Amino acid sequence: MTKKDTAKKNDRSALERLFLHALKDMYFAEGAIHKAFVDVARSAKLPSLQAALTAHCEETRDQTERLEKVFEIFEAKPKAISCEAIKGILEESSNVLDQFGDTEAADAAAIFCCQAIKHYEITRYGTLREWARELGRMEAARILSELLDQEYAADQMLTKIAEDRANKVAEGKIAAE
Ligand SMILES: [Fe+2]
Repeated sequence: MTKKDTAKKNDRSALERLFLHALKDMYFAEGAIHKAFVDVARSAKLPSLQAALTAHCEETRDQTERLEKVFEIFEAKPKAISCEAIKGILEESSNVLDQFGDTEAADAAAIFCCQAIKHYEITRYGTLREWARELGRMEAARILSELLDQEYAADQMLTKIAEDRANKVAEGKIAAE
């Protein structure tokens, strides 16, 4: 660490250091989520779910780039730190999909897992946005607000696919498309 870096670190408030910790955590999470969504999208049975997840995979890649912009605003290097919470959610998702991937409930299970991931992101982006506002970094707050809106939209889209078809297919009431 250079002298300049040390000075910058000491200049940061505890809130700003906490913000950067959480940002690094999300930078790691977005990378891990992208990989998981690519796999889930490939295994989705309903075309509507496959299309929605594929589109969201692209969005997730773009979100990682926008997090890099937030790092830049805070004059920090983009860095990922291992996030145990998302690792746990992804591990559980993988177990659920192993168990139900070959059943009629495969898509309902995929939506169940993806919504847990989306809700995790919603909680983190919501807090990060409020901290960015408090720290007076309005451009960062605007970017985080956009990410938050995308996560809400993805969550609602999953609910709609579940209600329209996936839950009924899982129940054996209708056939998969
Ligand atoms: Fe995301």
